[in-house]
Amino acid sequence: MAAISLGAGAVAGFFFLFFAAAASGGEAALVEHTFVVSQIKLHHLCNETLVTVVNGQLPGPAIDVTEGDSVVVHVINKSPSGLTIHWHGVKQMLNCWADGPVMVTQCPIQPGKNFTYRFNVVGQEGTLWWHAHVGCLRATVHGALIIRPRSRGSGSLYPFPEPHKEIPIVIGEWWEKSPAQLEKGIAKGDFTDLPRSATINGKLGDLNNCSGVIEDNYILDVVRGKTYLLRLVNAGIHSEYYLKIAGHTFTVVAADANYVKPYTTDTVVVAPGETVDAMFVADAPPGRYYMVIVNSKTIEGPVQTRGIVNYIPSKGSDDTPILAPKKSCQDDESTSFYFHGNLTSLPQSIMPPVPMNVDEQLIVAIDTGYTCEEGDPTCGPVSRMNNISFQLPATTPLLQDHYYHNMSSTIEEFPRRIPLGIVFNKGRTSKATSVRRVRYNSTVEIVFQGPPDGIVYSNPMHLHGHDFFVLAQGFGKYNAAKDVQTYNLVDPPMRNTALVPISGWTAIRFVANNPGVWFLHCHFEKHVSSGMGMVLIVENGPTLETTLPPPPADFPSCDDQKSGVAYE
Ligand code: C2O
Repeated sequence: MAAISLGAGAVAGFFFLFFAAAASGGEAALVEHTFVVSQIKLHHLCNETLVTVVNGQLPGPAIDVTEGDSVVVHVINKSPSGLTIHWHGVKQMLNCWADGPVMVTQCPIQPGKNFTYRFNVVGQEGTLWWHAHVGCLRATVHGALIIRPRSRGSGSLYPFPEPHKEIPIVIGEWWEKSPAQLEKGIAKGDFTDLPRSATINGKLGDLNNCSGVIEDNYILDVVRGKTYLLRLVNAGIHSEYYLKIAGHTFTVVAADANYVKPYTTDTVVVAPGETVDAMFVADAPPGRYYMVIVNSKTIEGPVQTRGIVNYIPSKGSDDTPILAPKKSCQDDESTSFYFHGNLTSLPQSIMPPVPMNVDEQLIVAIDTGYTCEEGDPTCGPVSRMNNISFQLPATTPLLQDHYYHNMSSTIEEFPRRIPLGIVFNKGRTSKATSVRRVRYNSTVEIVFQGPPDGIVYSNPMHLHGHDFFVLAQGFGKYNAAKDVQTYNLVDPPMRNTALVPISGWTAIRFVANNPGVWFLHCHFEKHVSSGMGMVLIVENGPTLETTLPPPPADFPSCDDQKSGVAYE
């Protein structure tokens, strides 16, 4: 871990400073990166596509830190779009200003401007990631954020045997439409756009070809008998993805940078926004094996890709057949339901106890509605939470208004309960910026209720600024009297994204101990961009140490904003 790495090496004049934390668990280090955001042309499937990326890479650079480190990222915007970066899953304790969601915490960093994000990574270990937080731009502006434990003394660094190698696997999507085109479709209520392919670390894979030119596979070289830790991130904007490697099984050891009890499975499920750390042993006969990634068959598609796990030294020529998984992993919703439901937390010192008494309970319907007469061809569906389709403020970010006690009178209070008489996926709905205030240190429980019947979408609900316990999930309609009996209050998994199953519900609980303005939203871009979001305002506590400090001096100004969140 003490190596000096040139993480931002592509950028002349900037160095990736790494005052290495000694393996003995020494002082916290400062990890500094420069992210130059620009547009490049990538050639895939007979087309040149202009994409916005960080440091010329897709996926963007991985940030690699040790728990306790401070991170400094200089974002230099050389792209034609305003943008922000969100550090997905980083708790940002008392540091909401660095969180990143556009118009929730900050105005976009305009083209030609810079902004430096500063944050500490404390009390979290595992895989997280970062992404642009302006509409669909995150489809190509993203990368892994890896948090290693400080030394535990002797033995493995982890609460599981130390792997031979750790490999970030960023699952992405190759879109030929630009983010702006996708956004326009979503704004019209058209949720049917599909990526051309899923990607593994930027590679489209050999299921894709155009005019006989086959796309490159992602190749993972392995040595027989060794153990590998895959740090999986679903950076896709379209779907949940299922991962299989022919002839191999996984042991899941962490999710969303929280350890879980080792869980053995042949299929790993990662929803947008989620991360999973999964180990596998290269214990198959030497050869080549497909690593297959495919979306759930209940979502429009199929969207898939595959890479190759390649045993070295290799056994023969390049034409040894590559083994594919016997069963497709494109399963029904039950694969995802059980994968998520089977995860339990690994008791450990950095995890707080499960809070037993709830101060504030929200029951939230997540579905779609219409802003005009249903059937009116000029108005497609919008997404909503408790019958409000969330709208970002146009001129001042919510955090700024909150901090300066300047909340606009047009802000609506987010309802605590599902409005009476609501019919899922039907009826008129209004657009508004809706917020709910909660007291510092109160225990909040949220039950997300998806449309209880009909095959629609799962919803990966992501909360900024806090991890939460996922207490239970179920199919159909949540029934408090019966369903609280199924709550896991002993070892529930702790996550930052809760997958609400198709036709079902999920219950989460957390202590609102981080004063600030925190976005809560579905991590499917078509859902959040069309209104499946709300904002939780956690009030200050009684002391200076529990009060949100003022914004950094160089905070992006809103004066030079062209128009709201436009990025074209
Ligand atoms: Cu990764 Cu608000 O999102």
